[in-house]
Amino acid sequence: LTTVFSGIQPTGSLHLGNYFGAVNLWKSLQNDPANHLIISVVDMHAITVPWKPEQLRQNIVQSFIELLACGIDPAKVVLFQQSSVPEHGKLQWIFSCLSSMARVDNLPQFKEKSAVQKEVSCGLFTYPVLQAADILLYKAHLVPVGEDQVQHLQLAQDIARIFNSKCGKLFPTPHRLHSDLPRLKSLRDPTKKMSKSDTDSRSLIQLTDSPGQIREKLKKSVTDFKSEITYDLAERPAIANLLMLYRAVLDVSLEKVLEETSKINKVELKARLAEAVIELLRPVHGKMKELRNDMGYLEQVMAQGTDRARTLASQTMDEVESLAGFRPAK
Ligand code: TYM
Repeated sequence: LTTVFSGIQPTGSLHLGNYFGAVNLWKSLQNDPANHLIISVVDMHAITVPWKPEQLRQNIVQSFIELLACGIDPAKVVLFQQSSVPEHGKLQWIFSCLSSMARVDNLPQFKEKSAVQKEVSCGLFTYPVLQAADILLYKAHLVPVGEDQVQHLQLAQDIARIFNSKCGKLFPTPHRLHSDLPRLKSLRDPTKKMSKSDTDSRSLIQLTDSPGQIREKLKKSVTDFKSEITYDLAERPAIANLLMLYRAVLDVSLEKVLEETSKINKVELKARLAEAVIELLRPVHGKMKELRNDMGYLEQVMAQGTDRARTLASQTMDEVESLAGFRPAK
């Protein structure tokens, strides 16, 4: 059995980058019985930047709704809320004490994220250590994440190695699993990734966007001055991004997309892409509506996830505490 762990922050509705970079991959993994898939709504990560309690509360529920609506199946996956499993924080502390400041300080996401904060929390700094705890608490072998998480996964690998050599062999080395789609870019600026924290809502398409919003955002998306369609990542990154998105939405090869778009212009590409995204999201919208009206089911899914994750996490934590010297050796 291969243990697969991944997480997503409850910081607002998922966007198409999350969908194609992560959720879609999880959906294919859950259908292989050789995988033990564990997915966490990582709410503790969501408070590393300023937050509002009421908003967080809503975002957590919304994340569950969206994941279920996208087709994540709680019968096949351990789907749980991070903060409901106290071992994440416990293991993070031990890992913090095994990580050098210099190593953590080198991670690029901290520099990016702290640059836009007035006051930077210690939590934002140690965020990747918590992420390592998330992964290793379940002794994950595989971690399906987008390209932006590569450095965080390398830290988790380092921490596993350090713990194993200092305290005793416990953790497998977690490896990254990635979709063949490069990271989706902002619709306003193809040099930036599509991101929930972008202040310009036109830069991303979220799962909750209406057909009107989707058409509008794609129509207004920034491209270049040429009208014909060619794929050139270096020279025409915005068009390349739209083509990649189109490819992902249709679930076909890039060649196929280029064939289809060879005789149309940019305006037509944007229009076709919009309709394809709307089609993709139509059933998701229907499912979200259903789930919103069935809070009882949602609570049941969340409680079941907590139970299952706790059972797994407490086993690992027992072993960690023995090996680290907090308890008698086993
Ligand atoms: P988060 O919530 O930012 O993103 C969730 C997943 O979506 C991917 N992603 C993208 N993929 C392609 N294009 C994009 N524009 C794009 N934007 C986001 C991310 O790579 C990610 O896979 N630190 C993590 C959450 C986390 C985690 C973990 C993940 C916490 N603990 C343990 C794996 C294992 C994060 O902020 O993801």
